[in-house]
Amino acid sequence: MSKRALITGADGFIGSHLTEMLVAEGYQVKALTQYNSFNDWGWLEDVACKDGIEVLSGDVRDPHYCKHITKNTDIVFHLTALIAIPYSYVAPDIYVDTNIKGTLNICQAARDNDVERCRYVRYFTMKTAEFIRRARRYSRQADLEFQYDPRRGKGSHGQIS
Ligand SMILES: NC(=O)c1ccc[n+]([C@@H]2O[C@H](COP(=O)([O-])OP(=O)(O)OC[C@H]3O[C@@H](n4cnc5c(N)ncnc54)[C@H](O)[C@@H]3O)[C@@H](O)[C@H]2O)c1
Repeated sequence: MSKRALITGADGFIGSHLTEMLVAEGYQVKALTQYNSFNDWGWLEDVACKDGIEVLSGDVRDPHYCKHITKNTDIVFHLTALIAIPYSYVAPDIYVDTNIKGTLNICQAARDNDVERCRYVRYFTMKTAEFIRRARRYSRQADLEFQYDPRRGKGSHGQIS
C-alpha cells in the first residue's frame, strides 16, 4: 500500500513542488492549503497532479483541525509558514501564532495520532534544492530526529530540478 503523506503549506512555493514530487513517487498526498473564501489553492492551482491529490483547506493555528488532518497519515511535511520579513515587523503576533504555535499544533497532533514519521521533527533552514533532496531522503527513512542547525545558511528562491 502506498504511503500517506500530509503536506502543510502545499499551496506555497516549496509545498507545491514537494506535492508534485511525492505524487510522482507514488505517495497518497493530502495537501493543506490555507482556507480563504475564494477557494484559491495558491501555487497548487498550477500543478499537473491536482486531480490525484486530496486538497484540504484550513488553518494550522487551530489545534483541533490539526488533529483532524493528521489522522491516517504516515508522514508529515510541515511547510506552512509566514515568510515575509517586512510584514513581521508590523504584525508579529500572527508570525508567532503561525510559525511557532502552528508548528506545535502539527507536532502534537502527529504525535497524538501516532504518525509514523513525525514522531520527531527536523527543522530545516536551507536552500530549496537541498530541502527537496533531504525531503526525498527522509521520506524513505525509518525515523526523523529532532535537529535544529542554526549554522545552516538562509534559504534562497531557486529553481527546483
Ligand atoms: N522559498 C524558498 O526558497 C525556501 C528555501 C528554504 C526554506 N524555505 C522554507 O520552506 C517553508 C515554505 O516556504 P515557501 O517559500 O514555500 O513559502 P510560501 O509562502 O510560498 O508557502 C507557505 C504557505 O503556508 C500557507 N500558510 C500560511 N499561514 C497558514 C496557516 N495559518 N494555516 C495554513 N497554511 C498557512 C500559505 O498559504 C502559503 O502558501 C518556509 O518555512 C520557508 O522558510 C523556503
